[in-house]
Amino acid sequence: MTQSLTLRRPDDWHLHLRDGAMLKGVLPETARHFGRAIIMPNLVPPVVTGDQAAAYRDRILAALPEGASFEPLMVLYLTEGTDPADVRAAHASGLVKAVKLYPAGATTNSHGGVRNFENVRAVLDTMAEIGLPLCVHGEVTTHEVDIFDREAVFIDTVLDPLRRATPGLRVVMEHITTEEGVAYARTGGPDLGATITTHHLIINRNHILAGGIKPHYYCLPVAKREKHRLALRKAATSGEGCYFLGTDSAPHVDALKEHACGCAGCFTATNTMSCLAHVFEEEGALDRLEAFTSLNGPAFYRLPVNEGTIRLVKHEAPHAFPEKIYTEAGPVTVFNPGFPLHWTVEA
Ligand code: DOR
Ligand code: ZN
Repeated sequence: MTQSLTLRRPDDWHLHLRDGAMLKGVLPETARHFGRAIIMPNLVPPVVTGDQAAAYRDRILAALPEGASFEPLMVLYLTEGTDPADVRAAHASGLVKAVKLYPAGATTNSHGGVRNFENVRAVLDTMAEIGLPLCVHGEVTTHEVDIFDREAVFIDTVLDPLRRATPGLRVVMEHITTEEGVAYARTGGPDLGATITTHHLIINRNHILAGGIKPHYYCLPVAKREKHRLALRKAATSGEGCYFLGTDSAPHVDALKEHACGCAGCFTATNTMSCLAHVFEEEGALDRLEAFTSLNGPAFYRLPVNEGTIRLVKHEAPHAFPEKIYTEAGPVTVFNPGFPLHWTVEA
C-alpha cells in the first residue's frame, strides 16, 4: 500500500538564494515545494536598506519560473550604521519581515555585521516597539572559543544579555545545533523561536571529518556531536511551537566547496521535504511534520498559513535525486543524506 501525507504548503524560514545566475539556478528548487521563504541578506554587498531589499525582492520575483507562486519574505542585514527610521518604514510598508544579526566574522559575508551591540541599541529598541523579529546567527567569533562551543557560549554571553536588555524584542535563534540551543529556545516564551535545518537533523560532526574530509557537509554553525543531533530531532519532531523549519540551504559552486578553504553551506532545497519525511517517520512523528514545516513558523511570524497543500508519497523503491544542479554560475552539489529516500513530493 502506498503511504501518503497531505500537508499545508510549507515555508522555509531561513534560505539563501544569492543573486544573478545562482539565484536563477536555485530559486526553482525552493519554489517547487515552498510557499514562502525568509531570504537571507548576506549578498555582496549586503541588503542593508529598505530600498536594497525592495530591489532584491524584484530580482527574485523576476527570476521565478513561469507559473510559480512563491513569496520572498525580505530581511535587512543589521550593521552598526543601520538607520532605525529606515527599518521602521521598511516594516510599515510590509516589505521587510525580519532583521538579521550576524556577529562580524561569524560566517559567509558577515564582515559588515555587528561588533559593538551598543551601536545597534536604537535599532533593537525600535524593533521591540514594532514587533519586528531579529533573526540571530548565534555564534561568538572569538578565536579563543572552540568552534564546537561557539553557539553555547553565544547564548550565555551575548543572546541572553541582549534579550534581557531589550524587553519585548522578538528573536529567532537561527539554525540551532546544540542541546543548549534547544533548551534555551524552549524557555523563552512567545517572543522566542528557533529554526532547525534539515541537515542538522541528519548529520553529526563525524559525517564531516571521519574517513576523509567531506566539504559538502561543512556548514556554519558546524554540525556537533551525536547527542546534539538527537536533541535537535526530538525538538523538531515534538510539535512544540517554538521550533520550525529554516533549511539554511546555502548554495556555493562546487569549485568553492571543494577548495583548500572551502565555503560553509549545505544545499538542501532540492530534497528537503523528502529528507524531513524520512526523519519524521523514523521518529514516529509524521503527524507532526506539518507543524514543523507549515504551521509553527507562520504563527511565530504572525502570518497566515499558506492556502495550498502538498502531498508526500512514500514509494517502495528509493527515489534518486540529482547529485548536482547545474546553474549558469557552476554546478552545486545537492545534500546527500546518506540513506535512500523513499518519500517524494507529488508533482
Ligand atoms: O553554512 C552556512 N552558509 N552558514 C551560514 O551562516 C551562511 C551560509 C552561507 O551564506 O553560505
Ligand atoms: Zn544561513
